[in-house]
Order: sequence, then C-alpha cells, then structure tokens
Amino acid sequence: MRITVVGAGYVGLTTAVCFAHLGHEVLLVEKIPLKVDMLRRGEVPIYEPGMEEMLRENLKAGRLGVTSSLEEGIQFSDVIFICVGTPQSEDGSADLSQVEEVARETAKLMTSYKLLVEKSTVPVNTHKLIKRTVERYLKKKDVPYDVASNPEFLREGSAIRDFLYPDRIVIGVESERARKIFEELYAGFNCPIIYTDPATAELIKHASNSFLAMKISYINMVADLCEKVGADIKLVADGMGFDKRIGREFLNAGLGWGGSCFPKDVRAFIKMAEDNGVDFGLLREVEKINRRRIERFMEKVRSSLWSLKGKKLAVWGLSFKPNTDDIREAVSTKLVPLLLKEGARLVLYDPKAMENFRRVFPEGDDLKYAPDPYTAVEGASALLILTEWEEFQHVDLLRVKELMELPIVVDGRNIYEPSVMKQLGFEYHCMGRGVKEPPA
Ligand code: UDX
Repeated sequence: MRITVVGAGYVGLTTAVCFAHLGHEVLLVEKIPLKVDMLRRGEVPIYEPGMEEMLRENLKAGRLGVTSSLEEGIQFSDVIFICVGTPQSEDGSADLSQVEEVARETAKLMTSYKLLVEKSTVPVNTHKLIKRTVERYLKKKDVPYDVASNPEFLREGSAIRDFLYPDRIVIGVESERARKIFEELYAGFNCPIIYTDPATAELIKHASNSFLAMKISYINMVADLCEKVGADIKLVADGMGFDKRIGREFLNAGLGWGGSCFPKDVRAFIKMAEDNGVDFGLLREVEKINRRRIERFMEKVRSSLWSLKGKKLAVWGLSFKPNTDDIREAVSTKLVPLLLKEGARLVLYDPKAMENFRRVFPEGDDLKYAPDPYTAVEGASALLILTEWEEFQHVDLLRVKELMELPIVVDGRNIYEPSVMKQLGFEYHCMGRGVKEPPA
C-alpha cells in the first residue's frame, strides 16, 4: 500500500520507517530542509536504537522516500498519517495549528479520495475540527474523504519494537471504506485491534497516558511512606505487581516522570476535561506529586551533604529516561539549576544526552562535562544518579569509590542494592527503600 506520513518527529519517523519495513511504499514529508537532507542521507536526527539501520535499509530498498513538499505527499497516496507536533500552549492545551495546516493543505489539493489519519496525540473531537477544515477548503466539494484516529503508543528508546509488536492497535473510524484500508494496513499484526468511533480512540490515548503517569505518582507516594516506616518500595511494587489487575510495569519509584509526552499530555487532559465541564482533580494531584519529586531528591542531597556550597558533585544521567538522548522535561533540567543555585560545582555525564544538554546548559566554571562516568566522579563529594542507564549497572563501583572524595551516592532511580552498596563502603541514599537518612 502507498502511505504518506507528515512530520518526521518521533512518531512520524517511526511510523514511516516501520510501515516501509513491513513492505509498504512510504513517503515521509518534513518541513525542515536540514532534517530532510539528513534523513535522505540515512541519518536520524534523534538517538533511537535500531532506527538508523532500518531507515537506511528502506531508503536503499526504495520503499521509503523523504520530501519537504506537502503537495507531493498529498499526491503520493490516499492514506495520510498526520504525525506533526502538538506542542503545549500557554494555558496547557495542545496547539493544533500544525494539524490544521495539514488538513487545510490536503483539502486544497485533493482531487480524489483521501483518508486523513490522526496519529499525533490530540484532544478529543479533533477529528471533527479536521473534518470542518477539510469541508471549508475543499476545492471540489464532491471529493470523498475520511478522517480517522489511530493513536500511537510507542515509547522512546523502544519505538520500533512498540510499533511492530504493540499490545493493541486502536482505530477510530466512521466509514466502511476507511475500516477496510486499516484492515489491509494492519493485516499482519498479531494483537487485538480495536475499532471504535474517532472520539473514543482519541480518548483511549489520553486516558492511557494519564493512567500510566498516575501509576508512577502513586508508587512514588508509597515510596515516601516506605522511607518513613522502614519498608522497601521495590518489594512493595513486586508484591503489588503480581496482581494481574495491577501489573508490575510503571511501578518504579524514583524521580518521577518527564519526557515529551506525559507532562504535556497530562496537562492537556486536565484542560480538556475542564473545557468539557469535568473537574479532573485527581490528575492535578498526580502532577503535583510529580513536581515534588525534585524537592524530595534535593532534601536527600542536602541532608547527606549539609551545605552544597563549593562542593564538587558528579551527576550521572541527563536524559529523561534511558536509551534516548531526549532531555525534554527531564528531571536533570530542573535539578541542575537548583544544585548550581545552592553553590555546587557539577560534573555531568550521560551516555547519549550530553550534546543536547550542553546546548541548554553550556560548560562554565561550575558546570563541566565528563567523557565517562569515572572522570565525572573524580574528587566528588557525592554522586547523584538521575537516569537508570544500563551502563551504570556495569561500572566498577570500587573504582568509583576510590576516585571520590567522599563515598556518598544519592540514587534517584534505585539502580543499586542498598545492602551491596553498604558492603562496598558507600553511604547510599535511594528512593523509598527503607534506608534511614542521617538527621539534617
Ligand atoms: C510515553 C508512553 O509510555 C507511550 O505509550 C506514549 O506513546 C508516549 O509517552 P515515553 O515518554 O517514551 O512514552 O516514556 P515512558 O517509558 O513511558 O516513561 C515516561 C517517564 O516515566 C520517564 O521519565 C520515566 O523515567 C518515568 N517512569 C516510567 C518512572 O518514573 N517509573 C516507571 O515505572 C516508568
């Protein structure tokens, strides 16, 4: 099948590359010329495991093309996936101007049937606005079209696997014609495929993301309680997770959720509910709990070091989660300025995100970047861990201890076992694992 994908962000790039991998003919439309050039050369502008190889394979096989012309994209196929950005507006709602633009341009140019598919996360009933726009700008009023919602549930760092082996596929359609296209498109997928109306599909996406964020905030509150009563949050989560109704995933306590989706989507969901007269106070609390993780961590740093002024601190992990170079809404972007404000001298290390971080936080007298985790900890009064990169599991901890001035570790992601760290001679502070903190 021929497919057009508009927008080469995370969702668009994954959608285009994966559909091409499945044997479809795909044209990817991207506005930014620099990105188009990169993609044509087989270079991926983001770090995503497996993406570059798959992009090159499909470019070479001629199944994937990249263009900056939306017109070309619209003429290329009957199925247009809208994967453009939906950034946050000042009031928390999603800015849908890029979605509107694709709908408008498609309407102006189309001369035969088109299926417009929302893949970006959009507020409920956006499909109605897309339809209204198409109606307004259609040159030939009798050209048939459909608008559908097919939300994406992929996670950064495992985007390709999530696309190719999803837990479910959600499709909101209004016509038999559109449904038939999706049946063909997803014919080889071995997972439940749920057909709904578009509004329900749009809501499934939002409700899922907010629920996952809620799960994390919930476990983080339980973690705080664990600390007070001397219980271990990891075991509490395991014990809860065996209940199939709960499940173990997204019960990892720590510094909370960041990234390009959860913060924006939770806010948008609250706003969307409010606009429709529903007060979703539960989600406001979920957000509040998440914001407080930063302060909880700072309390731990302060109580272990007393004053931060002039102290050298190593920071491991800058990306919002492992296996990505993405630092959008990462806790590091909030903690680094706080630590600097209290007078700490920081040496940062991350396996993939340093380049992105450096653009926002350039090197200075009190802010340095280290080429590896060992250089980062040299002479440090404490090591702070903000992201649970696999690499940190394999470091030589004895060497780390030797290199540090004081063997203090404040681990925001619970990557080590407290008993092992104690045995190795570290003063180890983690999140909710029943480890008593020294008095402030
Ligand atoms: C998320 C959704 O998972 C995905 O379905 C949606 O399409 C886009 O948003 P992503 O933002 O890539 O994906 O990251 P995810 O793996 O969900 O993690 C989000 C945040 O939650 C990260 O900051 C992560 O560190 C945090 N997290 C996750 C926890 O703190 N604890 C957990 O148990 C799981």
